[in-house]
Amino acid sequence: MSAVLPVLSTRLSAAALAAFGTSYDPELRSSTKPEFGHYQSNLALRIGNALGQSPRDVAARLVASLQVEDLCQTPEIAGPGFINLTLLPETLAKAVNEPESFTSRGQRVVVDYSQPNVAKQMHVGHLRSTVIGDALCNVLEFAGYDVIRQNHVGDWGTQYGMMIEQLLEEGLAAESLDLEGLQQLYERSRKHFDADGTFADKSRLRVVALQSGDPGTRAMWRHMVDVSLDDFDKVYALLGSNLERTDVVGESAYNDDLPRVVAELEQQDLLTESDGAMCAFLPGFLGRDGDPLPVIVRKSDGGFGYSATDLAAVRHRVSTLHADRIVYVVDHRQALHFDMIFTLAGTAGWLPATVPAEHVSFGTVLGPNGKPFKTREGGTVKLVDLLESAVSRADALLAGREGVDRAATARAVGIGAVKYADLSSDRGNDYVFDLDRMVAMTGNTGPYLQYAHARLTRLLAKAGTTGELTELKDPAEQRLALLLTGFGATVEQVAETLQPHRLCTYLYDVASALSVFYEQCPVLSSEGATRASRIALCTATRKVLQDGLGLLGIEAPDAM
Ligand code: ARG
Repeated sequence: MSAVLPVLSTRLSAAALAAFGTSYDPELRSSTKPEFGHYQSNLALRIGNALGQSPRDVAARLVASLQVEDLCQTPEIAGPGFINLTLLPETLAKAVNEPESFTSRGQRVVVDYSQPNVAKQMHVGHLRSTVIGDALCNVLEFAGYDVIRQNHVGDWGTQYGMMIEQLLEEGLAAESLDLEGLQQLYERSRKHFDADGTFADKSRLRVVALQSGDPGTRAMWRHMVDVSLDDFDKVYALLGSNLERTDVVGESAYNDDLPRVVAELEQQDLLTESDGAMCAFLPGFLGRDGDPLPVIVRKSDGGFGYSATDLAAVRHRVSTLHADRIVYVVDHRQALHFDMIFTLAGTAGWLPATVPAEHVSFGTVLGPNGKPFKTREGGTVKLVDLLESAVSRADALLAGREGVDRAATARAVGIGAVKYADLSSDRGNDYVFDLDRMVAMTGNTGPYLQYAHARLTRLLAKAGTTGELTELKDPAEQRLALLLTGFGATVEQVAETLQPHRLCTYLYDVASALSVFYEQCPVLSSEGATRASRIALCTATRKVLQDGLGLLGIEAPDAM
């Protein structure tokens, strides 16, 4: 067994079927207050409403048919007709001892995330996508999905024609440039392109050469891509991201599919020419002025853009990668883009209704002034600099601690603090990048949870023995144990809603219940079966914290 909640839900639905001849979802939930027992259902209120009967009478009939005496104390009816269930201590102990495990669902999820752009530094937006994407992939895998990570790197388009042309004009060797150099080259080429029509024309021809595979042009482009990918890998390593080189399937990867995408849309009469560009106009998509909004699949200069690539990517993910679900972790400003891409891909038959495509949208990282996070000069803040400052802030906190591997722990705590701050608020919200708050040891922060884990580790090392969970007498023990049994359901919920903050809230609740438990229930100084049980409860709590932080992509050091 282990997951008690689904078992009780099934029993309650069976009771409703027996008493009222209809199946209902009992919507059994964790109780909001300890005096309402462990779980609570409003089923009697709903049935009572539907049948025009008194909810308390309905509740009495439900309880009369409900068979849970092997798992619960006698069910109670409260207030207007709520049914409250309280587990027997041995049921609770068993549920903690045998945590739920997930088996393969035979379902594949493709997750598009991180997606930095070649020749540019990664910025805080890419931090969010990377951190949220990693956490979601971990959760989905743990929940039994087969996950394919796709790093849709921005490595294609007009700007590379411009940059290569600028490189040639300046007589520079591509090999001489690092990422910083590439970014400056981009800025020079942009200015040149805007000011000089001849240069602009040459750049456009260069794009054609790139897209049609001219070897010299491709070699220079390849170098720019490689330099950038090396740099991204450094950030991924510092972040502890799971992304690997083999997950990079950049925009360029779809180049050869683009003409076919356009041809198929044309065959289906989905394209209209507008100012020389090939566009799809979808019903219901209107701009502010009320004019129909286009999805531009081929630009007037013949080049393909961001939308064409995304259409090819959807097609590839469904037909070649056999996705059962596709997830895009991209900031909220691209909501309309994805809405239109999914609609068009659906219309064209590339995205069947059975394959949900979800835009996992997230808000903006703000600076201390409440505006989007920028350097004082208005430039993008380099992600590496930001992460390194978090690590040194954490390092300062660890000063004087004994038995701590300082460098490794500072990295775990600093990076963990940044990740946790990003994951713990509803991803749709903006948040202020505030290192002081992120590394705080109290409140709903990464270091607070890491500390709870490290303290348990120390306590268990001192205990020396392992114990068996046989008794749960104290309410603080019961509350903690009950929370621990909810780990699987929380993972399931995150896999469904793609909202990692639900896991953070859950872990914070566990850590808070743990500190109440510490206050009320001595562990090392207690004796016999009580001591053994409490040690077992600590072991189970430590595992939940460790697994939970692991799913969030956060390290759990043994000492800090
Ligand atoms: N590279 C883009 C950016 O930095 C994000 C790409 C998102 N993924 C996609 N399939 N379009 O804004």
